[in-house]
Amino acid sequence: MPHLVELKDIYKIYHMGDSDVHALDGISLTIDKGEFVAIVGSSGSGKSTCMNIIGCLDVPTSGTYKLNGKDITNYTDNELAEVRNKMLGFIFQQYNLIPKLTVIENVQLPLLYGGVSDREQRQRAMAALRRVGLESKAKNLPAQLSGGQQQRVSIARALAGDPSVILADEPTGALDSKTGREVMRFLQQLNREGNTIILITHDNSIAARASRIVRVTDGKIVYDGPVEGDKNVALQAAAGRDEEG
Ligand SMILES: Nc1ncnc2c1ncn2[C@@H]1O[C@H](COP(=O)(O)OP(=O)(O)O)[C@@H](O)[C@H]1O
Ligand SMILES: [Mg+2]
Repeated sequence: MPHLVELKDIYKIYHMGDSDVHALDGISLTIDKGEFVAIVGSSGSGKSTCMNIIGCLDVPTSGTYKLNGKDITNYTDNELAEVRNKMLGFIFQQYNLIPKLTVIENVQLPLLYGGVSDREQRQRAMAALRRVGLESKAKNLPAQLSGGQQQRVSIARALAGDPSVILADEPTGALDSKTGREVMRFLQQLNREGNTIILITHDNSIAARASRIVRVTDGKIVYDGPVEGDKNVALQAAAGRDEEG
């Protein structure tokens, strides 16, 4: 079985005037089906750049990216768009819901271009909303929902296309800590159900909910292993267990 995600010697270099910013400085990483990985690091360490490359929203300066065994490094924009649509689900800090569309229309968005009939789109979107417990809000507009509910809609949208990988960039960043914990419990449940989740966060207590930590500093991986092996995350994990009894 090929790895689901395989990054090899990935560099992303931005030219700023006469200096170069090495946003990613030689990242190699493999992720397999069913994993729950947190990519952790402080602001500016390169997390979002890494997520954008894994999510086919950006391409590396050099290095290779294989997704499910296929080398997609040199794919065109259109080919990358198709990969995004078929294989990837996104959850963003600011939910990125379209305000003028109803909840169910938002959840249907990833299905629009997949050759799925209207009727099936609605059924699949409704099934995704049921999974996040928001079936009754299908006809509401996003603004009529709380922040936590809007993030659950965005999770439903990510699930609707039945993606191989769910990418979540600071999914709790805009939420209060209680609602954030709920969203994390939900991601853990999705992982137990077999979904592969890549979570991006600067917050060690959020990262503690994952099974594997990839810590990035200055565009390099400085730790890759279980939660217990990363001192900062392990402390937060212990504190979280105390809190919840
Ligand atoms: N479009 C860009 N142009 C120039 N520099 C960038 C750009 N995007 C990111 N960077 C730089 O790359 C580094 C990593 O950024 P980023 O991946 O956003 O980090 P993080 O998500 O961990 O905060 C930072 O130094 C940032 O300033
Ligand atoms: Mg970021």
